[in-house]
Amino acid sequence: MRTPIIAGNWKMHKTVGEATEMVRKLDELVADSPVEVVICAPFTSLASLSALGLNKVKLGAQNMYFAEQGAFTGEISAAMLEDVGCEYVILGHSERREIFKEDDELINKKVLKALETGLKPILCVGETLEQRKAGETENVVVEQTTKGLAGVGAEQIRQVVIAYEPIWAIGTGETSDGNDANQVIASIRQTVAKLFSPELAQEVRIQYGGSVKPGNIKEFMDQPEIDGALVGGASLKVEDFVGIINY
Ligand code: 13P
Repeated sequence: MRTPIIAGNWKMHKTVGEATEMVRKLDELVADSPVEVVICAPFTSLASLSALGLNKVKLGAQNMYFAEQGAFTGEISAAMLEDVGCEYVILGHSERREIFKEDDELINKKVLKALETGLKPILCVGETLEQRKAGETENVVVEQTTKGLAGVGAEQIRQVVIAYEPIWAIGTGETSDGNDANQVIASIRQTVAKLFSPELAQEVRIQYGGSVKPGNIKEFMDQPEIDGALVGGASLKVEDFVGIINY
């Protein structure tokens, strides 16, 4: 059985004070949940969140660079994230791909470095509206998954979480329906099975992301292939995020 994992991607929101206030509450409110709960906060809040000594909520970052250290102004390394108590790191989010022009090759280097350092990547894949209309959804997610996981070892794949986030459903209020998301996620799992093995593919957790709210989470979690959610806007308010975690 795969343990469900629900992660909040705060994107560029919250000061350190706002972050610590919310996560302190969240940690108490979800203490008994069977779900693995992760908050992916901005870099600036991670050390303070870690210093709270959380019992339940795990920490993740939203990006990193693949180099060990050096002249990379503005970048953060995997070791730095480990040092401030991160267990997870989101890689290849569509906003990184679209706004910051990250390609599959760069994302793959980050995935490999995260794993080598002991961080668990949340690798994001998903199609644009144009690609969906052109019937390319499956090809797009298969290619992003294959390229993103190139060079990952069989002993490492269990550490990887994949998030299927159709770009047209992010922040728009539009969602994929549960059945459709389940089918796309099934094809991502088949890809993992081909790259690694059917047994290992059964162990990898694959989330849905895109306008997940307390009112629609169950539709996704009821699907056999969907193992959790990556939540943007609705992870910013403790009541909403708790409502999602308690689906
Ligand atoms: P929303 O939940 O705000 O649509 O964002 C989804 C997302 O991008 C999570 O990574």
